[in-house]
Amino acid sequence: MTATVVVGVGGGVAAFKAATLVREITRAGHQVRVIPTPAALEFVGTATWEALSGAPVYTGVFEAGGADHVEIARNADLIVIAPATADLMARMRAGMANDLLTTTVLAARCPVLIAPAMHTAMWEHPATQDNCQVLAERGVHIIDPIEGALSSGDSGKGRMPEPEEIARIALSYLPSDATIPMPSEDHSDLAGQRILITAGGTHEAIDPVRFIGNHSSGRQGIAIARCAARRGASVTLVSANIEASLLPDGVRIVPVVSAADMEAAVTALLPEVDIVVMAAAVADYRPLAPAQMKLKKSEETDVPQILLERTPDILAGLARSPQRPACLVGFAAETGTREQVLAFGQEKARRKGADLLVVNPVGQGRGFGDVPNDVHFLDRDGQVVGSASGSKDDVACAILDRVSAIVASTMER
Ligand code: CTP
Repeated sequence: MTATVVVGVGGGVAAFKAATLVREITRAGHQVRVIPTPAALEFVGTATWEALSGAPVYTGVFEAGGADHVEIARNADLIVIAPATADLMARMRAGMANDLLTTTVLAARCPVLIAPAMHTAMWEHPATQDNCQVLAERGVHIIDPIEGALSSGDSGKGRMPEPEEIARIALSYLPSDATIPMPSEDHSDLAGQRILITAGGTHEAIDPVRFIGNHSSGRQGIAIARCAARRGASVTLVSANIEASLLPDGVRIVPVVSAADMEAAVTALLPEVDIVVMAAAVADYRPLAPAQMKLKKSEETDVPQILLERTPDILAGLARSPQRPACLVGFAAETGTREQVLAFGQEKARRKGADLLVVNPVGQGRGFGDVPNDVHFLDRDGQVVGSASGSKDDVACAILDRVSAIVASTMER
C-alpha cells in the first residue's frame, strides 16, 4: 500500500543523510514530500530535494505558489524528521509554527518520528532533554542519537543513526498487512507511569565484523512495551539489535548494541522512570580487547584465543542503586527440567534483588522467537507467586498485572 511520508529536514550537518532516507522510503514504493527548514537549505539545496522526491519543495507557509500546510498534514501517513536539531525540537515542544515544517507538524495527526542530531553538549543540556521528554510524552517517537564522531571533531553521543536504519524504523510505522494483534483488554491502570523496558540481545564485538550474541528476538519485551503503552504508560524501549519491523508504535525507542551501551542508556534514563523491566538477554561476557581490524587467518596461527571479561550486571546494579525504581522486574531464561528451571530461578531471584523475576524455560523450541511462552513469577525471596502461559502478548499482560499491583502497593506505603 502506498503511503505519503513527509520527510522534515532540520538545519544540521547530518541533513545530507536525509537524501538517503528519502531514497529508501521512495524505493519502498511510498510518496515523499520533503520539507526542509530554512536553515537546512544552508546544507542541502531545494533542487536536490525536488529531484529526489519528485515534488515541489517549500520552507515557508507564505512562499509564492506555496504549499497548503493543512492539506500536506492531512495527507501524511507519517512525518519523519531527520536530523531534528535542538532548535527544531524546542520549537516543536513550544507548539511554534514559524516555518512550513513546524506548521505541518502542528496540523498533523499522523505518527511523528524524529531523529535528533547535535553536539553532545547540546544533546545533554537539560533544555534539550526536557524537550525530548515532553515530546515523547505527547507521542512523538524519538530515535536517540548514537555515540560517534561529530562534525566538530569531538566524539560522543549526538550522531544521527545511519539513514538506512532510520528508514527501516520509519517504514515499520507505515500500514502493512502484517499487523501485530493487540491484547484484548484496554484499561489504563498504568496511566502516569513511566516504564523503561529493555529487549533484544546484546552484541559484543570481537572485531569490526564479528560479535558474540544470542538468540533473543526481543518479542517478549516488545509485547510488554506495546501492552504498557496501551494501558496508559509512557514507554521507553531500549532496543538491543531488534529487527526494525518488530518495533512497536507509540513508544520511545533507544537503540543500543552492547551491554555497555545498554548500561549507559539505562543509567541515563533512570531518573526519568518509575518502572524498569529488564527483558533483554544481556551478554555475560565480552571480548576484553576487541580487535580494531578484522581478524585474519594465517597458516601459522590456527585458532585465535579470545580473552573475555564479565559485563556489568545491569539488573543487580539497578536493585542496589540509590535511584532504584519503584518497581524492578527481571527475567531468567533457564534450561533444564521444570524443577531445575525453578531452582535456578529461585537462586537468581535472591541474587538479583528485583521485585519480580519472570522465569521462563528456553531452548529446544521454547522461549525464543515467535512461539508461545510459559513463565513462573518469583518474588524477591524466590517464592513462586504465580505463573502465566500463552502468547507473548498474553504473558506481557500477566506481567503488567503484577507490575500494576506492585506499583499500587508501593503507593499505599
Ligand atoms: N542481566 C543484566 N545484566 C547482565 C546479565 C543479565 O541486567 N549482564 C539481566 C537480564 O536482563 C535478566 C536477568 O538479568 O533480566 C537475568 O538474566 P540471565 O541471563 O537469565 O541471568 P544471568 O545473571 O546472566 O545468570 P546466568 O547466565 O548464570 O544464568
